[in-house]
Amino acid sequence: MHIKSAEFIMSNSDVAKCPKSMLPEYAFIGRSNVGKSSLINMLTHRKSLAKTSGRPGKTQLINHFLINKNWHLVDLPGYGYARVSKDAKKVFQKFITQYFALREQLVTAFVLVDIRHSPQPIDLEFMQWLGENGVPFSIIFTKADKLKPKAIEKHVEDYKAIVLETWEEMPNYFITSSSNETGKDDVLNYIDNLNNN
Ligand code: GTP
Ligand code: MG
Repeated sequence: MHIKSAEFIMSNSDVAKCPKSMLPEYAFIGRSNVGKSSLINMLTHRKSLAKTSGRPGKTQLINHFLINKNWHLVDLPGYGYARVSKDAKKVFQKFITQYFALREQLVTAFVLVDIRHSPQPIDLEFMQWLGENGVPFSIIFTKADKLKPKAIEKHVEDYKAIVLETWEEMPNYFITSSSNETGKDDVLNYIDNLNNN
């Protein structure tokens, strides 16, 4: 899919105030600092459409972007960031879960995990919760530029093995890097196919 336009629409912390439009929507979620905002910039080929930072906790709201005038990308705050105060964390968690539970336009979620890390309980719990709530999702492994190809293969195999200890199948997944654009076409074509079905 060719990205002809990408515009910021709005930020808010209340799913009820998200755009009313019924355009198909795709949301990026995962732990703080995993690379959600960077991935959105990479996919849309816009340097700073979504705000990124080396410090975890940068994205704090639900951010809607309109792509090619016919679908939405959504950047969300990270979960599991220890340095955000307990109260702030609760507020985040509440509007994130409300977003996934209530947003009818959501076609699929992308759960981002750092390719260098083994499956983290918080990620597995979140994916479990999505499954129980009927939200389709794929896994996106991020920061693949940090590993050599052989190590990427091994990390993905190890991840799968652990997932398969408790789940029947490995969710659909993508290997990406926002630094060198690995996986860009795979993710965009996946979205394009869903948009056209
Ligand atoms: P929060 O909004 O805080 O939850 O973080 P986020 O998940 O949106 O992460 P963000 O995109 O802000 O990136 C966090 C840090 O990781 C930044 O320093 C990025 O430059 C870096 N980063 C993101 N993606 C990649 C990648 O593919 N490769 C490398 N090497 N660094 C990356
Ligand atoms: Mg962010």
